[in-house]
Amino acid sequence: MKLTIVRLRRLSEQDILDLTKIWPEYSPKTLTMDDAHRIYAAKFNNRLLAAVKMTLRGAQAELDSLRVREATRRRGVGRYLLEELIRDNPGVNDWRMVDTGVEDRSVMAAFMQASGFRAQTGGWQKQD
Ligand code: ACO
Ligand code: MG
Repeated sequence: MKLTIVRLRRLSEQDILDLTKIWPEYSPKTLTMDDAHRIYAAKFNNRLLAAVKMTLRGAQAELDSLRVREATRRRGVGRYLLEELIRDNPGVNDWRMVDTGVEDRSVMAAFMQASGFRAQTGGWQKQD
């Protein structure tokens, strides 16, 4: 089965188990999912391998809490997740990623740079 990027709108029992592994910081049942607060995830064989939060304010979107499960890193999952969520939101022209909670800033910085974002105070901003 192929890797797909999905916007989560409600959580299955399996999603809850997977999100607990991706985000031990969060209790899945308390996550807000509405038009302004979105969660996108990478799914393979009906399991979530990565997730990111997106907060939408008009044409501006702020991303946070991007995490790919450790065993799946460096296989293009993070890149695909970011590309597809940007493609899913053509009305957004200002993309930021905040650095809150980032484990290893140098890894995240390399990833964000490879994804066309530039470092700024508090995170990264997508370049045109
Ligand atoms: N070192 C150098 N460059 C890297 C690295 C790395 N470790 N990882 C990615 N890159 C760059 C490379 O250019 C890579 O392209 P290449 O493999 O062809 O060289 C490009 O980014 C794309 O890499 P992907 O394979 O798509 O990246 P991956 O799927 O591994 O995801 C990510 C990258 C998201 C940074 C992942 O390592 C991760 O989740 N790290 C933890 C992030 C974190 O701290 N999250 C917590 C936030 S707070 C919270 O969630 C509550
Ligand atoms: Mg990967």
